[in-house]
Amino acid sequence: MRTQVGIIGAGPAGLLLSHLLHLEGIESVVLEDRSRSYVENRIRAGVLEQVTVDLLNDAGLGGRMRREGLVHDGIEIAFSGVRHRIDFRELTGGKAVTVYGQHEVVKDMIAARLAAGGQILFETRATAFAGIDTTRPRIAFEHESGTGAVECDFVAACDGFHGVGRPAMAHRLQVFERRYPFGWLGILAESPPPSDELIYASHESGFALYSMRTPEMARLYLQCDPDDDIANWPDARIWAELHMRLDDGERALLQEGSVLQKGITPMRSFVVEPMQEGRLFLAGDAAHIVPPTGAKGMNLAVGDVFVLARAIADHVRTGRSERLHAYSQTCLRRIWKAQRFSWWMTSMLHLFPGATPFERRVQLAELDYVTGSPAASKALAENYVGLPFES
Ligand code: APR
Ligand code: PHB
Repeated sequence: MRTQVGIIGAGPAGLLLSHLLHLEGIESVVLEDRSRSYVENRIRAGVLEQVTVDLLNDAGLGGRMRREGLVHDGIEIAFSGVRHRIDFRELTGGKAVTVYGQHEVVKDMIAARLAAGGQILFETRATAFAGIDTTRPRIAFEHESGTGAVECDFVAACDGFHGVGRPAMAHRLQVFERRYPFGWLGILAESPPPSDELIYASHESGFALYSMRTPEMARLYLQCDPDDDIANWPDARIWAELHMRLDDGERALLQEGSVLQKGITPMRSFVVEPMQEGRLFLAGDAAHIVPPTGAKGMNLAVGDVFVLARAIADHVRTGRSERLHAYSQTCLRRIWKAQRFSWWMTSMLHLFPGATPFERRVQLAELDYVTGSPAASKALAENYVGLPFES
């Protein structure tokens, strides 16, 4: 099989890359290990930055997002029993974020690719690469009925944190990593919203987050031990902890409803440099992970493939390689700013095991400053709605 760009992974990174290349008249084939229904139903992040929303609209992918996505003009930050609002529109000159599940974005992208005759090979696992340092790289794959190969001009490994792209260039990568001494227990629950906006709470029992997927469906998170077993968390214990951390004192904010999904995720910050070797490019979670506190994961994946699609298109049109050579450097400037923001939000809002009373007082002072000072609120808002894509 021959194509111009071989893409591994049908997550937001791989699918959007394939679509953006198609808009430039460039052919690609997407290889995805899992089934279509698996990737379309995998519950992940849900906050789209303004720049992501603008890009999806410009690329013709925004129809359902505009109808069904929930536009949020701000967030609330709760600490010491009081909620404080950060008004994004006012602080950023009119920008906002949109709450729209990552799996909905994935569904829209798959539908658009298939409608345009795009090739996505589901249940097809990339296994090895050859000729990465040549102009004719190959991806070997296997699926139920046997093995095969994609010959292409470029390979984009958009295959997530556990993919095959990053290990293939491991020998030349520098790894930057921070693990946090806590995880997030997340649930999806039939619970109508007590607030129109997300609530990030720094409570003496630990962090909690109120988020949503639809006007009837809440997405709720609790800071927990990263090694805790979900079996230790029956629904009643989860609700009790959520009430304690998110309710307004004695007034119940949350309405309990059936819990449809639950799981524990560890938190880490992770970046590899560079994100390219020869004609193999890493994009999205394959190259970096952020703790979810800043809601940046999917947005970073989008930023990477925006840069990569332009670089490949420039090469195909003009034969010039400057943008391709600059790919890592261009992406990493924005990635590191999002890493900083995610690390900062995480550090400010969570209880660190073993923190001294002095450290907790400093944390509370920072929360007071961020919510009380227009300059500090503006810095949070500017990062939360998304810094511009690098060009
Ligand atoms: N062959 C084919 N497909 C593979 C392989 C392989 N060897 N390895 C992994 N994949 C697929 C996975 O099944 C997955 O569907 O690659 C896809 C990677 O998609 P994502 O994990 O969604 O990664 P990405 O597109 O970078 O999106 C980043 O996902 O984890 C969230 O919070 C993160 O929102 C961020 C987003
Ligand atoms: C989510 O809705 O899943 C969500 C929202 C905000 C975050 C992280 C996750 O910071």
